[in-house]
Amino acid sequence: MINYTEKIPNNVDLGRDRVLQRALEHWQPAYMGWWYDMGPNESHNYEVYLRTAISVEPDGWAQFDYVKMPEYRWGIFLQPRDEKREVNFGIHKGQPVWQEVPGEYRSTLRRVIVTQGDTEPASVEQQRMLGASCPSMYDLRNIFQVNVEEGRHLWAMVYLLHRYFGRDGREEAESLLARRSGDADNPRILGAFNEPTPDWLAFYMFTFFTDRDGKFQLCALAESGFDPLARTCRFMLTEEAHHMFVGETGVSRIIQRTCEVMKENKVQDPSDVRALGVIDLPTIQRYLNFHYSVTLDLYGSDVSSNAANYYTSGLKGRFRETKLEDDHVLRDTEYPVSEVVGGKIVTKNAPALTALNERLRDDYIDEIADGVGRWQRVIANAGVPFWLTLPHKGFHRAIGNFAGHFISPDGEVLGEEAWKNHKFEWLPNPKDHAYVQSLMSGRVVEPGKFANWIAPPARGINNQPLNFEYVRFN
Ligand SMILES: [Fe+2]
Ligand SMILES: [Fe+2]
Repeated sequence: MINYTEKIPNNVDLGRDRVLQRALEHWQPAYMGWWYDMGPNESHNYEVYLRTAISVEPDGWAQFDYVKMPEYRWGIFLQPRDEKREVNFGIHKGQPVWQEVPGEYRSTLRRVIVTQGDTEPASVEQQRMLGASCPSMYDLRNIFQVNVEEGRHLWAMVYLLHRYFGRDGREEAESLLARRSGDADNPRILGAFNEPTPDWLAFYMFTFFTDRDGKFQLCALAESGFDPLARTCRFMLTEEAHHMFVGETGVSRIIQRTCEVMKENKVQDPSDVRALGVIDLPTIQRYLNFHYSVTLDLYGSDVSSNAANYYTSGLKGRFRETKLEDDHVLRDTEYPVSEVVGGKIVTKNAPALTALNERLRDDYIDEIADGVGRWQRVIANAGVPFWLTLPHKGFHRAIGNFAGHFISPDGEVLGEEAWKNHKFEWLPNPKDHAYVQSLMSGRVVEPGKFANWIAPPARGINNQPLNFEYVRFN
């Protein structure tokens, strides 16, 4: 169980390690300073109907109640230790997992943890202004839930840095509070986490696409031979599921509302659809193209010796590593990787070990395709003749084999001119942004009310009705 009597709630027996406890209690006010500055704007007095983790058991791990966000009990929760757990892949396969950091992997592991940790506060920063334009109290509560949990994920990574990496770990923990999303001088580490999230369509797309990248990275780290990292990531995954739910249902509700209005008024043309105050489907497709492509970049280079090293040394596994049936060493296996050769996309086999980024990206794409299929069903059920598609993997990429090439959503290799001529048919253009912004000029917060451009959800949070007072503004 989680000890909530301590200043920092935890299930890692923090009270027994005074030095560590003091170091984290020293970091805590700095974290609060960051939250007051960079957490959801003007939200500090709101009482929000939030879930808080109270145990790490799969059934009944959370409790719901009104909480002022600065009083949220951010804590350190690890899945319980399995004494018999072994390293499941790489050259250490079959050895007991490590409870301390192996010296030779110290800097690599620190880098992996810092990179993951950096994404957590980044997304809070990206989303901090959205409360002012929320489509309902239900949605406002959901974004706040996502934000406090990303804050907790930062705590999860900072615990590992403080506990296992001594002085440089503490310095990294401070830097995690110093970088800022989109800052010219001190940006967040990864590209997608420096992009603005200017409106609620972007927010739902982000939580569907980019939080799901988080899920896949956490799944790969949950296989780690460094046991505290694996146990930390397992519990983070429990919380992550809600973030992706918010994204998938958010986009789905926007699509549903648009289709309802299109049918009621018998209109198809995007400008007629816009005149009725809902978001036209081609704009939704362009947002999808943007968020999908910038998120694909997060998986890194298609062929990567770093990825091979992480795997071989047992630090980062594959998605569902232990469910896969092979040797878990990958010495003589291959994996298909695409590249552009002479103006054509060709697929060749590469050593599976170096293609692990690409493989994780492909696993991710499979899951994304299912979700987009569910959105498509909403359109089909409404009888609207429009097809959402996932663009080609090479479309609008800045990292990996497709970087520097100009590939259409259909997978055609184009010249720069041709691509630029179509750019704003494929990616959100300034008019799209201006239109979406115009719909979201104020917030809708009367209990049970929803903005015109989004359908209500199927049900409320924790079995509460839709007109429940999810946020008290005081
Ligand atoms: Fe997270
Ligand atoms: Fe998340």
